[in-house]
Amino acid sequence: MKIKNLKITADAKAHFEPSDYFRRWSKQEIFGNDQPMEIDLGCGDGKFLLEMAAHFPQTNFLAVERLQGRVARVVRDADRAGLSNVRVLKLESLYTVEWLLEPGSVSRLHLLCPDPWPKAKHHRNRLVQRPFLQAVWDALEEGGEFLFKTDHEEYYDWACEQVVDFGSYVTVPWAEDDFFYPKTDFQLQWEAEGKTLQALRCQKTQRWMRRFAIGVGEWRLACIGSWGRCCCWFLWCRGWRKPSRGVGGKVHWASDLAGIEMRRNGSLSTARTSMR
Ligand SMILES: C[S@@+](CC[C@H](N)C(=O)[O-])C[C@H]1O[C@@H](n2cnc3c(N)ncnc32)[C@H](O)[C@@H]1O
Repeated sequence: MKIKNLKITADAKAHFEPSDYFRRWSKQEIFGNDQPMEIDLGCGDGKFLLEMAAHFPQTNFLAVERLQGRVARVVRDADRAGLSNVRVLKLESLYTVEWLLEPGSVSRLHLLCPDPWPKAKHHRNRLVQRPFLQAVWDALEEGGEFLFKTDHEEYYDWACEQVVDFGSYVTVPWAEDDFFYPKTDFQLQWEAEGKTLQALRCQKTQRWMRRFAIGVGEWRLACIGSWGRCCCWFLWCRGWRKPSRGVGGKVHWASDLAGIEMRRNGSLSTARTSMR
C-alpha cells in the first residue's frame, strides 16, 4: 500500500538524521552502542530490515533509502515494533557508504534487488562498480561481507565481473538455507511472477591475503597470500575443480572455496572464477 505524505514525527526513535552530512558517524553515535552494524541499501518498504532486526537484537541495522515515503513508513514500523536496533537514513546509497560511515565499521552490507538500469546507456548509473566496491571495502571490517541479490541476469553477470576486476573480495558460496535471510518485498513480488533471483556473497579479504592468479591453458598459478615482498604460490590444473550448485543455479567451483580470484594479466588468458 502506498502511503503519501506520511510524516516523520520529531520523537521518531528509528529516524537517523545526521546534524552534519560532511563528516563520518560512528556506530556509537548512530545507535548509542558498539554492537555489530549491518547496512541495508535501498531498503524499500523495509520487510527484510525489520525481520532481520527482530531476529538479531544484538546487531544494529542501518537502512538507507532515498524516497521520503518509504523512509517514513519504515521508521514508523520500526518504532511500532519497538526495534531499538534500527535506524533509517534518507540519503543516497553511494554517498552514505563513501562519506558517512567510519572505515571498518560494517559487518555486513546488503544490496537487495537494486535498480538494474537495463539499457546500455544507463549502465553507468548501476551501483555495483569500482567506486562503490571500493567504498564498501573501506566500510567493511576484516572478513565483513557484501551481499547482493538481483533478478536481472545481465546485472548479476556485470556485478560478478566488477567484483572480480576489483580484486580484494573473495566470493563465497551462498545457498538459500545457509543462514537466516528473509525475503524482501521485491523478491516476493518477483518470485510470484515466476522470476528467479541470483545471489552473490563477497567477503573482504584481509590485507595480507590479497590474491591474484594467472592462467595459461588449463593451468593456474595463484598468489594465495603475501607478506611484504614474500608470496605464497599455488599451482593447480583446472581439471581438479569440483563444481557445486549455489543460489540461482549458478555453479561455484571448488577453487572459489579456496578464495582464489582470477585477475586480468597482460597477454595471459583471463579467467573468471567467481561464477560460471
Ligand atoms: C527495487 S527497490 C528494492 C527495495 C528492497 N531492497 C526490496 O528488495 O524490496 C530499490 C529501492 O532502492 C531505492 N534506491 C534506489 N537507488 C537508490 C540510491 N541511489 N540511494 C538510496 N536508495 C536508492 C529505491 O527508492 C527503492 O526503494
